[in-house]
Amino acid sequence: MEHILDKDVERVLFSEEQLRARVAEIAAEIDRDYAGKEPLLVSVLRGSFVFMADLVRQIHLPCTVDFMAVSSYGAGTSSSGQVKIVKDLSEQIEGRDLIVVEDILDSGNTLSYLLQLLQARKPASVRLCTLLDKPSRRVKPVELHYSGFTIPDYFVVGYGLDYDEKYRNLPYIGVLKPSVYEDR
Ligand code: PRP
Repeated sequence: MEHILDKDVERVLFSEEQLRARVAEIAAEIDRDYAGKEPLLVSVLRGSFVFMADLVRQIHLPCTVDFMAVSSYGAGTSSSGQVKIVKDLSEQIEGRDLIVVEDILDSGNTLSYLLQLLQARKPASVRLCTLLDKPSRRVKPVELHYSGFTIPDYFVVGYGLDYDEKYRNLPYIGVLKPSVYEDR
């Protein structure tokens, strides 16, 4: 660790090396599963931008990318299931093979809403790829095809994940010191 933000991190959960290795494995699975196809990777902003950027560069198949931004109304740290589309896709997705790329699957509220919305546009297929999965927090069941790491209910930041919009630029995933959010 050698970042000014490191002082707020209790411990590193996944180092840059671990992340790189796991992302390469997921990309290899996607290459295998989508051989002969041209998947459209949909990144759900903002948290997934780092994972998406690393993942696409490890995928060798021809693929295209698109971006969506959503915000969920809800108090505190958990989403409520009421999701607002802040930025919609630029591409038509009918008949396309979609891979929705997320940084973290938590309650499942955001993704279950989003997957329903995307299904209604009649893609050929939709799969979900998340870097982190917190199954202990799940409220809505969501079918998950590619998962980087399963984690307990830690407050994680870095590699795209934020606390109060900060820490997204940390190159690793760390557990935030409780003092950071308890002092507020
Ligand atoms: C995170 C994450 C998912 C959602 C998952 O986004 O990127 O979209 O929460 O939570 P859920 O399973 O409980 O619905 P967040 O709302 O933190 O926005 P961000 O991506 O802009 O950080």
